[in-house]
Amino acid sequence: MLGKLSPGVPTAMPAIAYLNGRFLPIEEATVNIEDRGFQFGDSLYEVIRLYGGKPYRAPQHLARLYRGLKMIDLDPGLSPGELEGAVVELARRAAVSDAFVYIQITRGVMPRNHPIPQQRIQPNVILTCRPAERYPLEVRKNGVTAITHPDIRWQWCSIKATTLLANVLVRTKAVNGGHYDAILHEDGVITEGTVCNAFAVIDGVIRTHPLDGRILEGVSRGAALEVARAAGMAVEERAIGLDELARASEVFFTDTGCEVISVVQVDGRPVGDGKPGPVATALWNGVNEIIEKECGL
Ligand SMILES: Cc1ncc(COP(=O)(O)O)c(C=O)c1O
Repeated sequence: MLGKLSPGVPTAMPAIAYLNGRFLPIEEATVNIEDRGFQFGDSLYEVIRLYGGKPYRAPQHLARLYRGLKMIDLDPGLSPGELEGAVVELARRAAVSDAFVYIQITRGVMPRNHPIPQQRIQPNVILTCRPAERYPLEVRKNGVTAITHPDIRWQWCSIKATTLLANVLVRTKAVNGGHYDAILHEDGVITEGTVCNAFAVIDGVIRTHPLDGRILEGVSRGAALEVARAAGMAVEERAIGLDELARASEVFFTDTGCEVISVVQVDGRPVGDGKPGPVATALWNGVNEIIEKECGL
């Protein structure tokens, strides 16, 4: 069971970063302390994964990012295509073909003052990159454990904002308790995980929270739903009641890091028979096929 593993813990960091059009040694990629991303969390981020040097579903990630930027009225000053080019080039220069590339776009630097200035200030566009490893088969075989926790985040979770303090605190609590993540809930329904989307199989139907702004539109969520629908599985984008969890035959998470991972225990109670179930396994296999096809592996 996965408690100790906190996937995505940085291993060796490539020594190169991207800052506003330049590739430079990471220690030289510095931003002014009056950057609004630093001061207010007035910034958005995205994580794009590369398999074999090819970005996976970059258009979907970038569409989500640019949607969010539009919602907060932040013009990044470069096109999605230019940003994708920078993502690929950074991984190439860092010599990591299986990589997570982190993108952050902040509103820029100005003397600290809450209102967004009328005049556009120069945004900071930052990219870093680190090696990505597939989850060990052992983890896939055993699944992971989770706790439930009130969703204490802000309301606009469809916007991938860097204001992640709630996610940080809740995930720390889960990990320190020996778990992989927390399943967040609000008003009696499950929203998502702190770093992932949450699914359950209840009465033979795959359920996950609808896209109503309260959760992030996960790219991996989309891929898992695509696989499920193509296979003719019953799927409903309908919120899962916290009280329904107890009778779920399967619970699983999706995200760019885990792809699809089974949750075999919630709050100390086994899910189903306490082992990864057939639905999550089939979806992971299907998502893998998509990855292989789209990234030419
Ligand atoms: C809160 C939250 N939900 C869901 C996801 C999954 O999104 P994706 O599948 O695009 O990685 C993430 C990923 O960062 C996340 O932070």
